[in-house]
Amino acid sequence: MQTEQRDSFGSRFGVIAAAAGSAIGLGNIWRFPYVLGENGGGIFLLIYLILVAMVGIPVMLSEFTIGRSTQRNPYGAFRRLAPHRPWYLVGLMGIAAAFMILAFYAVVAGWTLEYLYQALLNGFRGKSSAEITTMFDTFRGGTFRPILWFLIFMFMTAWIVMSGIRKGIEKYTKILMPFLFILIIVLDIRAITLPGAAEGLKFLFRPDFSKITAETILEALGQGFFSLSIGMGTLITYGSYINKKEKLGNAALNVTLADTLIAVLAGIAIFPAVFAFGIEPGEGTGLVFKTLPLIFQEMPGGYIFSIIFFLLLAIAALTSTISVLEVIVAFFSEELNISRKAATLLASLAVGILGIFAAGSWGWFGGIHVMNQNFFGILDFTTANILLPVGGFFIVIFVGWFMGPGRVKAELSNDGSIRAAYLPVFMFLVRFVAPLAIALVFMNGLGLL
Ligand code: TRP
Repeated sequence: MQTEQRDSFGSRFGVIAAAAGSAIGLGNIWRFPYVLGENGGGIFLLIYLILVAMVGIPVMLSEFTIGRSTQRNPYGAFRRLAPHRPWYLVGLMGIAAAFMILAFYAVVAGWTLEYLYQALLNGFRGKSSAEITTMFDTFRGGTFRPILWFLIFMFMTAWIVMSGIRKGIEKYTKILMPFLFILIIVLDIRAITLPGAAEGLKFLFRPDFSKITAETILEALGQGFFSLSIGMGTLITYGSYINKKEKLGNAALNVTLADTLIAVLAGIAIFPAVFAFGIEPGEGTGLVFKTLPLIFQEMPGGYIFSIIFFLLLAIAALTSTISVLEVIVAFFSEELNISRKAATLLASLAVGILGIFAAGSWGWFGGIHVMNQNFFGILDFTTANILLPVGGFFIVIFVGWFMGPGRVKAELSNDGSIRAAYLPVFMFLVRFVAPLAIALVFMNGLGLL
């Protein structure tokens, strides 16, 4: 069977753990706090949770369903399920989104490498809040270092995808990620016992309904898509490797719960510290990098903890970048009939060039602004808030209305061998609730309504 041939996981390594590895990353620890901080705090969290349940889980399960039933990359999957129809465009859009996401995501991953390096050098020690801020801004505004770290990170990603040692990496991350989880809890405990922490918890958990705007809701939707790795076919690709005996419904639920828990725990570490150290919650993309070193300073063993933390964060980012690159590589190698190696080189080269500009967004390439956003911001906004929700919309519409209830049911019940009692609820969500919610939030958020 061709599945044997393209399978680069082997069921024993747990594709589902790999899907969790894809979902959990900088989206939870870097992006979630910065977007929440810019969008009103508690109200953002509330809307986020509602949208993850109503839209996120249905899209994720739809991707798994499409992937496992076709055993194909996103483009090929749509080609197979709907030949001679334009659905494959959804797959192509996902490939484009993958390029753009990788180009800015790997830049932030590069920042974590710089921070790992600084942690090793004990470079945060004794610095005031203002000095830590300057340190980050100076680093990021420079030319050479942000590009260098970005390229190093891209190189690692490409090397892993190319050499097929991904399942090895994923096996280790299964062991390592629980440590990241524990470390975040340690940070939480330190953060909530800082003087003035209560203010931060209030900001995170007390919704201020006067702060709801159309844009806040769109940002919450975009963050949900981004954090769950949905809307561009990553999980179609991973779904195509999932063993036929796995329960897809459980998988989607567990991945979503784990991802959401990590994001909230990251928020509990960041916001008390933000308020305790007098940082602006709406600080933007630098928020966690300006906050975390200050928490480590206030901890016994902070030196060791900071090293382990940034190391684990870089690894969490790596399992996410691998999953994004994999989408492009699966597409190139299966549809263009080139080798995995050539596909990886080609894709990485293109991302490498795009990312050099993204890395320069606060420095040499900082002059470029569209609607008040630098180049990095444009990539971030366009992918999370536009391409992913549009992709997700068509994915649920496809599963709800075009794939055929028989086929969906067969896939979710493992050909009738398990019950999947949630099926009617799922069908209702993918047919009506999720597409309507996405369409409304999207058009409203972009001022089209
Ligand atoms: N979800 C990952 C994170 O939170 C990033 C990521 C991996 C991603 N694959 C994706 C985002 C696909 C969007 C689409 O860090």
